[in-house]
Amino acid sequence: MNSRAAEDADFLQKYSQWAPHSGETFAKASKVIPGGAGSSARTVPFGWKPYPLFIAQGLGSKITDIDGHEYIDYLLGLGPMILGHRNPVVTEAVVEAVRSLGTCFGLPYELEIEAAQKVVDAVPGIEMVRFTNSGSEAVGSAIRISRAVTKRRLIIRFEGHYHGWQDTVYWSNHVDPAAAGDARRPRAIPSGPGVPIELEDTLIVLSWNDPESFIKVMAERGHEVAAVITEPAVLNTGCIMPLPGYLELLRSETKKYGALLIFDEVITGFRFSRGGAQEWFGVTPDLTTLAKGLGGGFPVAAIGGSKEVMSIIAEGRYSHSGTYNANVIQCAAVSATMDLLAEPGLYERQRNLGFKLTDGLAKIANDVGIPVIVEGIGTVFQMWFSEKPIHNWREAEKFASEELFTRWYREMLQRGVLFHPNHLENLFVSLVHSEDDINKTLEAAQGALSAIARNK
Ligand SMILES: Cc1ncc(COP(=O)(O)O)c(C=O)c1O
Repeated sequence: MNSRAAEDADFLQKYSQWAPHSGETFAKASKVIPGGAGSSARTVPFGWKPYPLFIAQGLGSKITDIDGHEYIDYLLGLGPMILGHRNPVVTEAVVEAVRSLGTCFGLPYELEIEAAQKVVDAVPGIEMVRFTNSGSEAVGSAIRISRAVTKRRLIIRFEGHYHGWQDTVYWSNHVDPAAAGDARRPRAIPSGPGVPIELEDTLIVLSWNDPESFIKVMAERGHEVAAVITEPAVLNTGCIMPLPGYLELLRSETKKYGALLIFDEVITGFRFSRGGAQEWFGVTPDLTTLAKGLGGGFPVAAIGGSKEVMSIIAEGRYSHSGTYNANVIQCAAVSATMDLLAEPGLYERQRNLGFKLTDGLAKIANDVGIPVIVEGIGTVFQMWFSEKPIHNWREAEKFASEELFTRWYREMLQRGVLFHPNHLENLFVSLVHSEDDINKTLEAAQGALSAIARNK
């Protein structure tokens, strides 16, 4: 057995001793829940090997597994726990609203206006908003609205982005480059079985951060394009920031050809800043989708945009429906969350803490001789084990070491720091992580990266 295989075997053995109760519970769960967990991102094939930890509870920036281990949490529910676990203000607002109002009425009510107004006030590109239940739903609506408004059907999307699981957009996430072909004009590849292949004709897939291929495609087919959908920073391939001018180019070209620009801010919304990535980068889309962060951990999403675009719903020409849309739990959570996020200086403070963490990680890795690129804006980031900067999926696939990331995840887990084991996910820093959390994480990282360096 080589030393890497020995390290692997050692971890798996340690893990079963470390988390035996999770192991037994996983076996029980797997009998009634496919894969033993409620979403595939929590399962073994997505990196939670040999089985996912089962969680007892979370509080603030910490999470505790059922074997009694407490972790500093950078997984944060895959993003929604922007205010930490069990935020007392949001929890109380939800409980109180349910007690005093109910849960859903099949008719509008005043708290819904309050929540909508606060979102409109916060996000530059949103003049009108509808609440819905998940990011996938919000994106599905954004796509159909863009087609209805423009009377066109072609959608441009980018490799490496994820926009939820609906058939229209569940394509070309982490594609095999050999199957997708030329990066300047990739083939659209469904992200899984069951997606009607006929939808291929409704999509153009491009490499992100590649201005030339975008300009070329728009020159050829811009007049057929209903919408360009993009994550304004890619958080579904680790963390990749837009090159200077790229979002501005998407904005100007879509305007030029009469297509809509959709920012999928399911992750970036309320995370880059209170007004999302569109505020941070100063580029305003026609439609915005929001979800994680919007309800401080409660399940809610939204589709919002300019009055001009949203008027298709207002005038009854487009039916956007949903039994649970804008229910009391959602609106109470959104309203309380928006208030908390308005605290002066909050984002600056937490972004600075995040930068202390990312700068510290880069320095430690550099000192122990492991090349990394730490990319992000403080409240969300990824540490790429790569010598070269990464600008899109093809470069991530080519340059980033998944193996080193797995080792890093394992070393950190054993030191009480939790994040997703897959390097194509990312690390979230909540608005309640403390200086002490960051210091302890850096201390753990010193040990973890030194251990990896010793067995390179
Ligand atoms: C950018 C983006 N869009 C859409 C979705 C889908 O959201 P949901 O999981 O709430 O359906 C996700 C989920 O991770 C996402 O990251």
